[in-house]
Amino acid sequence: MKNALPQELQDEIGRAGVIAVLEIEDEKNAVPAAKALLEGGITAIELALRTPASVPSIGLIAGQVPQMFIGIGTVIEPGQAAMLKKQAGVKFAVSPGINAQIVREALEAGLPFAPGIATPSDIELAISLGCKTLKFFPAEGMGGLDFLKNINAPYNHLGLKYIPLGGISPENLADYAKFPAVLAVGGSWIANKELQKAQDWKEISKRAKAAKETWESIRGKA
Ligand code: 3PG
Repeated sequence: MKNALPQELQDEIGRAGVIAVLEIEDEKNAVPAAKALLEGGITAIELALRTPASVPSIGLIAGQVPQMFIGIGTVIEPGQAAMLKKQAGVKFAVSPGINAQIVREALEAGLPFAPGIATPSDIELAISLGCKTLKFFPAEGMGGLDFLKNINAPYNHLGLKYIPLGGISPENLADYAKFPAVLAVGGSWIANKELQKAQDWKEISKRAKAAKETWESIRGKA
């Protein structure tokens, strides 16, 4: 079975382990936030396309923090996949839900894509569109790890991989890491909007380090 997200990218996301969601309100915070994450050992971001500052921030991070593995989130509008494919440094994209048109556009543009799923029907739509790496969203809102284990069971033989987001925290991260079908986890708590606004780069690094250490305590160092 093919995958809308090539194996080498899946491996790279798995090595990163923890993905920091960045919703950037002021583009001047993009580079310091990315540097603070790297300082704490977080090497992958999901930069959410939810603010006017998001697209300019992609170029800033790609240009000034080239070690950062850049994923783009909240890809929900026609035309965004083609636009992102042209942005230097964008490695993959995700969406909160699954929209066949958006997935097809990503495939046509050659943009590695992991759609969001929250039900067995979503998973089957994803499979039919050629997606094997899936964002599980909103993870905790849907019932957390138990729910994920239940919906994955009929598809376990297909080797689907999940990136849970939505309510992931320092308290539940280790449990998610223990489930082999989890490729990586992500969340906004590491570099949330309040920390960016306060320019509290030390706290972002601290949270990044703690999250990465928790992940590695289960999965080992990549
Ligand atoms: C996302 O875009 O994936 C979510 O905003 C992440 O959820 P969280 O804010 O609960 O971490």
